Amino acid sequence: MIKLKSQREIALMRKAGEITAAARAYAGKLVTAGITTREIDKAVHDFIVSKGAVPTFLNYSGYPASCCLSVNEELIHGIPGRRVLKDGDIVSVDVGATWHGYVGDCAATFTVGEPDPEVRRLIEVTRQSFFEGIAYAREGYRISDIGHAVQTYVEQNGFSVVREYVGHGVGSAMHEDPEVPNYGRPGRGPRLVRGMTIAVEPMVNMGSAAIRVLDDGWTVVTQDGKPACHYENTILITSGDPEILTVCGDGPI
Ligand code: MF3
Ligand code: CO
Repeated sequence: MIKLKSQREIALMRKAGEITAAARAYAGKLVTAGITTREIDKAVHDFIVSKGAVPTFLNYSGYPASCCLSVNEELIHGIPGRRVLKDGDIVSVDVGATWHGYVGDCAATFTVGEPDPEVRRLIEVTRQSFFEGIAYAREGYRISDIGHAVQTYVEQNGFSVVREYVGHGVGSAMHEDPEVPNYGRPGRGPRLVRGMTIAVEPMVNMGSAAIRVLDDGWTVVTQDGKPACHYENTILITSGDPEILTVCGDGPI
């Protein structure tokens, strides 16, 4: 069941989104050589709490941290720990914050120094695929039109879209209906209507789309060991252009 949001709920989601986006930007600044992923997580936790919000991921289904930090061949759900970042690493930061019961959810991939040109292209294509997708996040289209656009763009650029994990509705729960796949035929799934809030989150592999979950039960890595990227924002469907809710300052990262 898709929950359409009232004006009151949308106002709360804007605030949750602003805090979440600020936490993502802050984590991105901390992505530097010599820091551990646990140190970044602690900083993100304290940042969210300092804003009066709740770190949504912490204890979600037993998840042990306030953000996911996924390095290089790790696609999503990397658990912060003792790993020390080094020059050339890429780090996908995924973070959620809850404000007065409403959730913001966003992610982006950051770099330590300058990665290989092909890795830089992977990051840019992943980010752009989100914008290609949300060109269809409008009344008159259906959910699968978003994923069809994401997949088309990613594959035109020679990369692969992961199938096992998808975007989702967001609201008073981090995961609400509908599912928002990053692939598929157009014209399928629920019709988009104003008041829907969804997380659109392309997960893109440089090599094959195949993934596996590590023994920690969380970390999702590419099977071929090649790099992977993630980009996500929570958006609101309106009568016109979609509104990106996970923004702070100058706009989306
Ligand atoms: N942003 C993610 C999602 O959309 C991450 C949630 S991971 C968990 O599903 F740590 F919270 F479990
Ligand atoms: Co999400």
